Parts: sequence; structure tokens; C-alpha cells
Amino acid sequence: MGFNTGVGTRTAVVTGASSLKGIGFHTGLRFAREGWAVALLDINERGLEQAKAALLQEVPDAQAATYVIDVTDPDAVNRVAEAVAASDLPPVGALCNIAGIPSPSSFFDLKLPEWERVMAVNLTAPFLLSQAFVPQMIKGGYGRVVNMSSVTAQHGGGVFSKTSYAAAKAGVLGLTRGMARELAEHGITVNAVAPGVVDTDIRVGSDEETEQALAAAVPLRRQARPEEIAALFVWLSCEDSGYITGITHSINGGTYIA
Ligand SMILES: NC(=O)c1ccc[n+]([C@@H]2O[C@H](COP(=O)([O-])OP(=O)(O)OC[C@H]3O[C@@H](n4cnc5c(N)ncnc54)[C@H](O)[C@@H]3O)[C@@H](O)[C@H]2O)c1
Repeated sequence: MGFNTGVGTRTAVVTGASSLKGIGFHTGLRFAREGWAVALLDINERGLEQAKAALLQEVPDAQAATYVIDVTDPDAVNRVAEAVAASDLPPVGALCNIAGIPSPSSFFDLKLPEWERVMAVNLTAPFLLSQAFVPQMIKGGYGRVVNMSSVTAQHGGGVFSKTSYAAAKAGVLGLTRGMARELAEHGITVNAVAPGVVDTDIRVGSDEETEQALAAAVPLRRQARPEEIAALFVWLSCEDSGYITGITHSINGGTYIA
């Protein structure tokens, strides 16, 4: 049995959806499997087209639209929100803010432009997208925002994700809590997902030995599959989870237990 959305067909807006190995693509795919329409957003135009083709191959009757966008650009975010509202997609019911970039620079090497870009993509973009799409959710009478954080926000950092990433992903937790309080009166829930190490291509340049070491350090002795993180995003977007808001949902194989 699938998740109970209970609200008829809705659109899930998913950012960071262009990589076939990534969490965003798998979240879009899982939404489509559960009967949602999907709006896939990413900066990578070619990847996005491949992602849409792959999704339609898996779920041929899915309603899927793609939007090429740098999620840090406020004007572009507003334009995409207007385009989604004007499209033949059903009303937006969920926004999954998944686009993100790592920050491998150590503290003393970290330069301001890297700090600002990491903040913009990981923290400011979820704010911009939420401001653009939540009014549509309120109008449509149903809304879920799910923001991507990381275990790095909780324990400080790792090999590929040091101080600026930890700060941005911790900021996502504050953004989530603040939005959850302010949007509750409108029936909109807002949650954060904090994965541990996930088997995707985000760790550019990482070799097999490093990847195995990352897995070995996890109590469950493996990296998460992107499908596992996707399932949590989709569940938090569905009616079944409607009494949960403002919460950090850890999904890390036991890496951080609190
Ligand atoms: N893989 C992990 O171990 C892990 C762990 C915890 C959290 N996360 C987070 O999960 C999210 C997804 O990462 P992933 O592992 O699937 O990697 P990924 O690199 O496949 O996904 C990131 C996506 O974001 C897109 N993106 C980057 N900058 C963008 C921008 N300015 N505008 C629009 N799109 C942009 C990329 O093109 C890419 O498709 C990220 O926020 C990441 O920080 C990943």
C-alpha cells in the first residue's frame, strides 16, 4: 500500500533533481511512483533532461516538468514559481529543498566567496523557494516543506563537508523550526532531513578507498542509498505525516544518535 496523500493529485517541487545517482532525482521518482506530479528543478540542464527521461521510463504515465534554474537567484526562483502556477501541473502540495553543494575547505583555507556560495545554495535557496511556493500551498489548502540538512549540522563536519557546510546545514534546522512555527496556522508542515553519508556523486573526486572508509565508519557499516532518503522526503510530504512539524529527521545508520 502506498502513502496516503488524501488530497488527490498534487505536484511535488523537487530541487537538485538532475543526477541519476542523487537524492533529488530519487525523490522525484518516488513521488511519481506514489502518483504525484513532479516539477524537477536544477542548474544542470542536460542532467535534468536525462533525469526526466529516466523518470518517465520508470513511470510512463507520470506528469513531470523540468525547470533549469540557479536556486540562489531570487528572480529566477519567482519566475519558476509563477511558471509552475501557470502550467498544467496540479496544485503544488510539497516543496523538497534538496539542491546543495559540499565545502571541503578546512577552516583556515576557507575564503569568503566559498562561504557565501555554500550559504546561498544550502541555506538561502530553501528560504527563497519556500517564500515563492508556500503561498500557492496555502491557496491550495495543503502544504509540506521538507528541507535538506545533514548529520554535519549535528556533529560538525567530515571529510568533504567542513565548517561552512556545517554552518549552512545547521542554519537549515533553524529555518525549518522558524517556518514550522510561523506556517502552522496555515496547516503547512515544515521538516528537515539530516542524512549521514549517502552513496551519491556529491563527493567529487572521492576515490573507492575513501568511500569504503566512510561506509566502515557508519555503525550500520554501509552508506545510505539515495532511495532511502527519498522515501523519507516523500513520507514527510504525505497526509500520513501531517502532525509532524519542525522536526529534524536523522537518517544516518547510527552515525549520530541523540
Ligand atoms: N550524499 C551525501 O552523503 C549527503 C549527506 C547529507 C546531506 N546531503 C545533501 O543532500 C543534497 C543532495 O545531494 P546529493 O548527495 O544527492 O548530491 P548531488 O550532487 O547529486 O545533488 C545535488 C544537486 O544540486 C544541484 N545544484 C547544486 N547547486 C545548484 C544551484 N545553485 N541551483 C540548482 N541546483 C543546484 C546539482 O546540480 C545536483 O543535481 C545536498 O543538499 C547535500 O548537501 C548529501
